[in-house]
Amino acid sequence: MSEATIPIQVEDLRAKASRELESVPDLDGLEAWRITYTGRRGQLTQLLRGLGALPSEERREAGAVANAVRAALEESLAEREDQLKRAAMEASLSADAIDVTMPGWPVPKGGLHITTRIVREICSAFASMGFTTVEGPEVEWDTYNFEKLNIPKGHPARDMWATLWIDHIDEDGEHPMLLRTHTSPMQARIMEATEPPVRVVVPGRCYRYEATDPTHEWHFYQIEGLAVDRGITLADLKGTLYEFARRIFGSERKVRFRCDYFPFVEPGVDMSIDCFLCDGVGCRVCQDTGWIEIMGAGMVHPQVLENVGYDPNIYTGFAFGMGPERVAMLKYGIEDIRLFYANDLRFLRQFA
Ligand code: DAH
Repeated sequence: MSEATIPIQVEDLRAKASRELESVPDLDGLEAWRITYTGRRGQLTQLLRGLGALPSEERREAGAVANAVRAALEESLAEREDQLKRAAMEASLSADAIDVTMPGWPVPKGGLHITTRIVREICSAFASMGFTTVEGPEVEWDTYNFEKLNIPKGHPARDMWATLWIDHIDEDGEHPMLLRTHTSPMQARIMEATEPPVRVVVPGRCYRYEATDPTHEWHFYQIEGLAVDRGITLADLKGTLYEFARRIFGSERKVRFRCDYFPFVEPGVDMSIDCFLCDGVGCRVCQDTGWIEIMGAGMVHPQVLENVGYDPNIYTGFAFGMGPERVAMLKYGIEDIRLFYANDLRFLRQFA
């Protein structure tokens, strides 16, 4: 190697290294470049090994050039590193960028169960007529479910309610427990707990030991109603239930009351509305009768008033009980009560 060539070679090296540095694509490439040129075994270091052979004057000069080149290359390296890092960051930012014009993710929206809706609708129709909503226990004593309602042990009327008994023995074996078969036991509980006047509706779940079919479930809801005061007559019952039917089924509705038997009322009635689908002409929904039965009702039996400590010579009252699922089935044309509790979202979403 000639003495004069070292600075020239260093300059050449610098030109080559600078050119290459421009086209290093990423940080890995940058490290490879550093090892090739400015690293401990890099080309620049190799060149400088030759300096020792030069006379001291030239060595100083060439050394100064070499040091300047090393400093310049290291500075370019740092700059390029900076550039590549910034480019990488920008690339990842734009990859993660949010396009605000894209449609958003749908947020799953909950809704009320159809039974909850119809129960609320019915209770609020009665609330506007002065009825308070109360609730009661689903596990009940035989006493409240039957006896206080004028259905003594062994009475054939008990067969009207296929009962699910709870495996419970009282100390004296006297108080069998059951899943309430209707909401009527709340009549007795409310009257025992309050003085007249009473005006309540009681929504809640009931249970029966029954096979299921399109119109029967082994558990379902009822809404009980009770009004007791001085001078309440059958006309109050009719007026109140007529108003209820108009609110739920439309202002054109007619109602019909016929005699029926329930042990806790006297007289007992069943109430029907004229079919809202065919306007009473006769169709599938009303089974060609023109009428649809919607609830049982009646004047509270004097024996029931006595059982709870009310004087039947002073007070009279009316009571009624209906199945809200049945009301919803009529209102929305639902053909199978089992759909209510089968948890099929395709059914439930239609009402949410
Ligand atoms: N508890 C009766 C049932 O489940 C329905 C009923 C009928 C309730 C007449 C009443 C009533 O309050 O007066 O079949």
